[in-house]
Amino acid sequence: KGKHDLLEQVRAIAEIADIHYVRQKEARGLGHAVSVAREHVGDQPFALLLGDDIMRAESPLLRDMLAAHAARGASVLALKKVPKEDVALYGCAEVEVLEGEVAAGALVEVRGVVEKPDPSVAPSDLAVMGRYVLTPGIFECLERTEPGRGGEIQLTDGIALLMKEEPV
Ligand code: G1P
Repeated sequence: KGKHDLLEQVRAIAEIADIHYVRQKEARGLGHAVSVAREHVGDQPFALLLGDDIMRAESPLLRDMLAAHAARGASVLALKKVPKEDVALYGCAEVEVLEGEVAAGALVEVRGVVEKPDPSVAPSDLAVMGRYVLTPGIFECLERTEPGRGGEIQLTDGIALLMKEEPV
């Protein structure tokens, strides 16, 4: 039908990178899904992007997170302030401010994370967004992660173990 522009776009995607996939064969949670990629990722840091979270930011979020990882060598989570009642929809982080105040773009040290807490006991109003830069140490932590909320192996619980060993 002469849709050459669309064809160009589809072809452009194939030029970006080699795309491989690994299938999570059982629905055992996000932490389990990440662990399924272990063999593919190997012993190096990696970016994790949850496809149902769409980011719109002036400075590309993942690029900033990769820069923070390069500067600190730590795993990096993306946090967003949300109305307190909304933390029940997300991982929720307890943080220590390294300098100044919690402000957009500021780096904070994560001291704890809890998956979808009840707002009345949530440690903060900072929600974990679906972008992560993780060190390979997460894989060993996920191996030790017991099923948590919803009976699933939660990435959040794996990250809670990771931060006992490495800064996040
Ligand atoms: C997942 C994570 C949660 C995170 C959220 C971000 O939850 O488990 O910690 O805050 O993604 O979108 P899900 O959206 O799969 O329920």
